Amino acid sequence: VARLRAGEIPIVEAGLDEVVHDAVAAGRLEFVVGAATGAEGADFVFLCVPTPQDDDGSADLSYLAAAAAEIGPVLKAGATVINKSTVPVGSTSVVERVLQRPDVSVVSNPEFLREGTAVHDFLNPDRVVIGCDDTTAAERVAALYAPLDAKVVVTDAASAETIKYAANGFLAMKISFANAVAAMCEAVGANIDAVMNGIGSDARIGPAFLRPGPGWGGSCFPKDSRALVAIASQHGYDFSMMRGVISVNDEQHERMVRKVAAAAGRGVAGYHPLEGVRVGALGFTFKAGTDDLRESPALAILRRLAALGATVTGFDPTTAGGLDDVQAARLAGFGVAPDALGALADADVAVVLTEWPEFAALDPDKMLSVMRGTALVDTRNLFDPAVMRAAGFTYDSVGRQ
Ligand code: UGA
Repeated sequence: VARLRAGEIPIVEAGLDEVVHDAVAAGRLEFVVGAATGAEGADFVFLCVPTPQDDDGSADLSYLAAAAAEIGPVLKAGATVINKSTVPVGSTSVVERVLQRPDVSVVSNPEFLREGTAVHDFLNPDRVVIGCDDTTAAERVAALYAPLDAKVVVTDAASAETIKYAANGFLAMKISFANAVAAMCEAVGANIDAVMNGIGSDARIGPAFLRPGPGWGGSCFPKDSRALVAIASQHGYDFSMMRGVISVNDEQHERMVRKVAAAAGRGVAGYHPLEGVRVGALGFTFKAGTDDLRESPALAILRRLAALGATVTGFDPTTAGGLDDVQAARLAGFGVAPDALGALADADVAVVLTEWPEFAALDPDKMLSVMRGTALVDTRNLFDPAVMRAAGFTYDSVGRQ
């Protein structure tokens, strides 16, 4: 809170500093300690607390319950409490019970923005979903979004909560499908880019979220896909399709590990099969445009390579200025270089794990000149295979010959 008050935005998020600074300067935004201080006297209170994963894959609602318990006594009569946290079906009534305020409406309003493009996504939503059995409360919340001129879907609370999980589950399914087809393309001699362009051009399928890669990660898809399986199972339904989506993703990490091992002329069987192999990693974050390392496929793959005996050094644009405590903890066991070429120095295998545009702009001759070997595994299909092979790389990517 002190850092925010000092005008410092502690995360990498395009455009966020500008909107925050403007709002603070205009007197429309302030940062306080304590939920009750923020909620007192407010007409609308948004709950946007994390709902991390519990041991059994279900969502941990303790932050949500704590926030509701704290604001319950101070809410003004007729206030509207809006839950933006991703919560299992039925949580709106949990908030109602904890608040103990029959004079206050609780509305579900899931958020669909992506990290890295959060400001843009929030201001340009494909739809706004509002779930409440009380239609006047739903209309009050819808009115808040009127300036965005977006499609508004008003439904009951249970459906709104389900929409959030089903949307993330479906998007994860699209990516797992693309990754599975990429594996097939490699086997049959087809090209994933052409195949995804071909199927994505069908308006019923659409081109978005069909980019193959090292597997999906981040703070949402992994936890929400597992929560979807857990919620279904708690209600007696075995969501086997979602379990398949998750296992295809786990396999994808392992497929990338095997590509790196093969590029080093090794396998993955036995004790420390990658002993003596130096891996130079480009990218730590779960995607470009964010400094978030949570559930990053890059780190899952690098941890496995290190466990197989490889020496791993990497670089990410978000670690260029040195590591904070969180980054240091998550990157323990890996060397962290000050720039991309530093990560590749003396490497037997270079591996691209995050699609940062500055990696695509690297000069292949310079990359090769600092490396000990000539192998490049491009898990993001960032480079043109013909260009990299012409430069002298032994090049492998995802779903392409
Ligand atoms: C995701 C959803 O896209 C948002 O709509 C949702 O609001 C958010 O979760 C959430 O629940 O809070 P986010 O986790 O920020 O957003 O990231 P995405 O852009 O969806 O990417 C997730 C993962 O999928 C990344 O690892 C990314 O590299 C991967 N991905 C994405 C692919 O491998 N291929 C694609 O075509 C797209």
